[in-house]
Amino acid sequence: MKILMMVGSLRAGSWTRQLVDATVALLPAHVEASYAVIGDLPHYSQDLDSETPPQVVVDFRRAVEDSDALVVATPEYNGSLPGVLKNAIDWASRPRGSSALDGTPVAVLSVSPSPRGAQWAREDAEKVLRVAGAELLGRSVGVASIHDTVVDGRIADPAIEDALRGLTAELLAAGEDAAARAAA
Ligand code: FNR
Repeated sequence: MKILMMVGSLRAGSWTRQLVDATVALLPAHVEASYAVIGDLPHYSQDLDSETPPQVVVDFRRAVEDSDALVVATPEYNGSLPGVLKNAIDWASRPRGSSALDGTPVAVLSVSPSPRGAQWAREDAEKVLRVAGAELLGRSVGVASIHDTVVDGRIADPAIEDALRGLTAELLAAGEDAAARAAA
């Protein structure tokens, strides 16, 4: 079972990345987690998205395609998801109708130092991913006051840890279903 993590912050010391790392630590041993490289993707342009797209795009799309499921984790920038994450989703969403995202189960996490838990970013990420053809889980997790939730690389809030365990269990089940459908 391969899960690809897409982290919407490029910042060294990113809270979003810290939450994803702590979530990966909760996954069962048989799960292979890797991180998508989204910061090196060019700005999406249909001119670049030709028969021979840039190698970094080919590699990124292959990483999405080779995964059974995705975790998309977003901070909130000005009430929505950061451009770098939207750009990555745009690249993954093409070619329309046969994209690497089509039917791929996705769990969305949002992260904020504020008490709102980046709810707008979470809602927007879910909307964009749904439109792009991904298979969204029935729930997502928004983490507020992240400074108090991830401490020394671990989840310090038992309710959030439970929510992340529940979300990733659902994601693994959906990933297994998707892999079985693809093999049939
Ligand atoms: C932010 N931040 C922010 N936070 C929030 O809750 N709602 C918002 O709309 C915004 N807007 C915003 C815009 C821009 C350009 C920046 C740089 C920041 C604060 C943001 O949530 C905070 O810096 C997080 O720590 C960013 O996530 P990482 O990098 O720690 O993962």
